[in-house]
Amino acid sequence: MTTTTPSPESDPASQSAERAPGRTYLSVLDLTPSELEAVLALAARLKEERALGPEAPTARALTGHSLALLFDKPSLRTRTGFEIAMRELGGNVTCPPSTDALGTREALADVARTLERWVSVAAIRTFEQSRLQEFVDATTRLSVVNALTNEEHPCQALADCLTIAERRGSVRGRTLAYVGDGNNVATSLTHAAATLGMHLRLASPEGYQLPESTLVAARARGAAPVEIVQLTDPAEAVEGADAVYTDVWTSMGQEAESSRRMEAFDGYRITSALMERAGPDAFFMHCLPAHRGEEVDADVLDGPRSAVFDQAENRLHTQKALLLTMLG
Ligand code: CP
Ligand code: NVA
Repeated sequence: MTTTTPSPESDPASQSAERAPGRTYLSVLDLTPSELEAVLALAARLKEERALGPEAPTARALTGHSLALLFDKPSLRTRTGFEIAMRELGGNVTCPPSTDALGTREALADVARTLERWVSVAAIRTFEQSRLQEFVDATTRLSVVNALTNEEHPCQALADCLTIAERRGSVRGRTLAYVGDGNNVATSLTHAAATLGMHLRLASPEGYQLPESTLVAARARGAAPVEIVQLTDPAEAVEGADAVYTDVWTSMGQEAESSRRMEAFDGYRITSALMERAGPDAFFMHCLPAHRGEEVDADVLDGPRSAVFDQAENRLHTQKALLLTMLG
């Protein structure tokens, strides 16, 4: 995880405040392999302990901390998951409207420098990753989490890895097939696969594949010998895979391209016939929200192989683990 250490000369406020330096989770690549494994192990423990309610050992772990949720795009799982996570850890949550915090009312840097006087951590969902970096660059004390950008969705990848580990015992050595758009979710899965040693086969139409630079950066982790390949044929990608993953063909912010994308992704829908190619035990994954009849057939999404609501549930446990790791 990346730490931004305050410079006392340039930030006199930090001298008196004695607050911990901010940490950032903008990308899965901000975590070392052992840090990522530790977050997942903590999430599994928190999941078990949730039944204890207010008696859980972490029920007051973040008392005195506040989380600001700054969202430029809609969200159910990420936003609500963070709200419940923070409250169950004894902390507070504030949700300033995006028009006030991320709009044109004032510079993003000034929002960051104001919020760092009040809260410990901000989770931000916005468009370009560069906006997130602009926010981080303006604050040394505030911890910042990427709650989804056009480029990456690292919180989703945490829940996905926990779900795979629950169903297969571990992530390392498993094979995930991702069929669909080479988007933010695909990028973070690629980072997670390279970090934890999971084989990943991505199948996307020409023009919608991940940039080669993303694969190069992931492989450069060198954490584990893994096969990460891009294909165009969904059947080839899913052959013998442990799990088959897809996401929407049109992400938030791309609505104007929707009809062109529907044509481009023809043949990339996850059907029960495609799931059969993966094997009898393969399970289906989707970050949600999903569109039945577009990227996935209803009988797959709603069928017995579907892990999508386990993934959704695990958003809470992994986001709790992330908050504890960053602030604890
Ligand atoms: N998967 C996910 O991030 O869902 P939301 O957009 O509802 O947060
Ligand atoms: N790729 C999707 C993910 C939504 C959780 C989007 O960015 O809209």
